[in-house]
Amino acid sequence: MNRVHIKTYGCQMNERDSEAVAAMLRARGYRIVGSEDECDVMLLNTCSVRDAAEQKAIGKAGYVSHKKRKNPDFVLGILGCMAQNRGAALLDQLPDVDLIVGTQKFHQVPDYLDNLRAAREAGVPIGETIVDIAEEAGSQNTIKDHLVAEGADLVPQVNAFVSIQQGCNMDCAFCIVPKTRGDERSRPMDDIVAECRSLAARGVKEITLLGQIVTSYGRRDYAHTDGISPFVQLLEKVHAVEGIERIRFTSPHPRGFKDDLAQAYGRLSKLCEYVHLPMQSGSNRILKAMNRPYSRERYKEIVDSLRAVRPDMYFSTDIIVGFPGETDEEFEQTRELFEACNYDMAYIFKYSIRSGTPAADMGDQIPDEVKEHRNAVLLDILRKNSERRNAALLGTVEEVLVEGPDKTGERFTGRTRGNRVCIFDANPRLIGQLVPLKIERASVSTLYGELQLAGV
Ligand code: 5AD
Repeated sequence: MNRVHIKTYGCQMNERDSEAVAAMLRARGYRIVGSEDECDVMLLNTCSVRDAAEQKAIGKAGYVSHKKRKNPDFVLGILGCMAQNRGAALLDQLPDVDLIVGTQKFHQVPDYLDNLRAAREAGVPIGETIVDIAEEAGSQNTIKDHLVAEGADLVPQVNAFVSIQQGCNMDCAFCIVPKTRGDERSRPMDDIVAECRSLAARGVKEITLLGQIVTSYGRRDYAHTDGISPFVQLLEKVHAVEGIERIRFTSPHPRGFKDDLAQAYGRLSKLCEYVHLPMQSGSNRILKAMNRPYSRERYKEIVDSLRAVRPDMYFSTDIIVGFPGETDEEFEQTRELFEACNYDMAYIFKYSIRSGTPAADMGDQIPDEVKEHRNAVLLDILRKNSERRNAALLGTVEEVLVEGPDKTGERFTGRTRGNRVCIFDANPRLIGQLVPLKIERASVSTLYGELQLAGV
């Protein structure tokens, strides 16, 4: 009863949480398995940001509980955002779930599983489902464990997510995250830097700092020094960690994206020239209705300031189409700004009603066909941008961090500093190395090339 399969929905933060849970479970003697057909415990780490994400996990849990009836010892757990959002109410739809654990309680999962296991081994019937979605002071500090590669054949880890902050207080009108992730809390800078050091000692070369609103990092705990925000101070410290070659972060908020951060791109060479900067809308009226405190003009100014520091900067964004009341003219403003920013990548979402958020009660909801059309318009621009950008890369040499074998296992994969995925032939001993790759071919999302190394 010790084989655990964790299935993760949603964002990188969720991936990071799952990884920390896996690391804690492995330290307790559980085996983390990749196949859901060969596990004794299945944990679904869920997402609530859109209804579709919740429905997907509920569908999966329903399917798994059907299997569970055939094997009463099987344990099914729901973790993370949907657990936090819906709590015990999930049992109305999913009565067979054994464990419901919220976003501040991931570190309790090993104890809960141990208890379930002990009860089953003793032949004691399991009583009530364990539901723990309480708040816990200091829980931002408990996402710190990383999986260590085990066994000689496992690929060493080259990049790692590091959580720097939990929760968000921005209260964007559309967003469920303040409910699922709670108040904004930052981890101490020294703890984060120590984690980066230990990752570097294990061979990790690339760090992605994670938080819901990283530009606010440490605002209650650290002062600005010489106009430098706590977040940029943290970037400087991570930059100084020997062995770390690349730094990324996600997600910043345009409101906190000040000049000190733009200038950091000129000073900190490890900071990759790739920024994910959520725009959400290009209409000032809609931004206001979304409770996003910036204007389209300010947003464009940030993009321009970054391109001034790094002309080769890559940009991605999040856009919501069909926010309540969004008119054709307002969408046209989004389209125009979207085009002007020339994104390399974008995540375009159709507005999804999230009960309990201010936008859910706004009325004037936009019909699905209209959302669909607006979505398609932006996707078309994105595809053209991506093709143009990739075409410009043909024949150039890009620095690629070799991550490991690709999906086929025959070639290797890695990413450029601009976060483009590359596929190429290489030698396994190059995993973890920064190598020059001559780009020879491109699809919309992937670059293919040849390493420019003597003797490889
Ligand atoms: N509907 C659609 N998209 C949403 N997002 C957040 N809430 C909603 C919602 N209710 C999007 C935002 C955010 C991204 C993570 O998900 O664009 O930046």
